[in-house]
Amino acid sequence: MKASFALLLPLLLPLVSGQVFHWGSCPDATVQPSFELQKYLGKWYEIARLPNIWQRGDCAEANYSMRADESIKVVNTELMNGKPNTVEGTAVVQDFNEPAKLGVSCSYFSPYSPYWVLYTDYETVAAVYSCTGVMGIFHVDYAWIIGRSRWIPEEAVSSAKNAFISNGIDLSKMTVSDQQGCDMQL
Ligand SMILES: *[C@@H]1O[C@H](CO)[C@@H](O)[C@H](O)[C@H]1NC(C)=O
Repeated sequence: MKASFALLLPLLLPLVSGQVFHWGSCPDATVQPSFELQKYLGKWYEIARLPNIWQRGDCAEANYSMRADESIKVVNTELMNGKPNTVEGTAVVQDFNEPAKLGVSCSYFSPYSPYWVLYTDYETVAAVYSCTGVMGIFHVDYAWIIGRSRWIPEEAVSSAKNAFISNGIDLSKMTVSDQQGCDMQL
């Protein structure tokens, strides 16, 4: 196992470079208690994020809405080189005992990635965490602070940050998202 991993490592490193890599398996983070999906739906704007390989643009926003089949429609939009780029996906509650642990997929064929709401007040801010583990040997952390508007008060940002920090999630690479001048272009 160790030897084969050593052979794989050079192949895997490009996948994690620029992202937040840690040894060991994904943490079992504490999520928002009594999560209420209906109150969470609607429009959110990205306030800050950990670097990831998919997002390159600015002005990132998401709109979550319920489909007739009770799955959640996810519409992510960002500005790439001045042009809106929209990706549609699906989210589902994977375990009704833990409704804040959603799974998100960007096509019907890709597996669901975790989308865990660690904290939200529904009206101002939410802390969203996703983790991809590789064979229990290392994991890559993804984190977003999202707000109900393109700018939210510093206290709300702190509440979201605390939700990550209290779970031992490292935010040292977190960057503030550019949300200036977006309404003119989107
Ligand atoms: C979010 O998506 C729903 C369903 O497609 C749509 O009805 C609603 O207008 C959208 N909200 C915003 C703010 O774009």
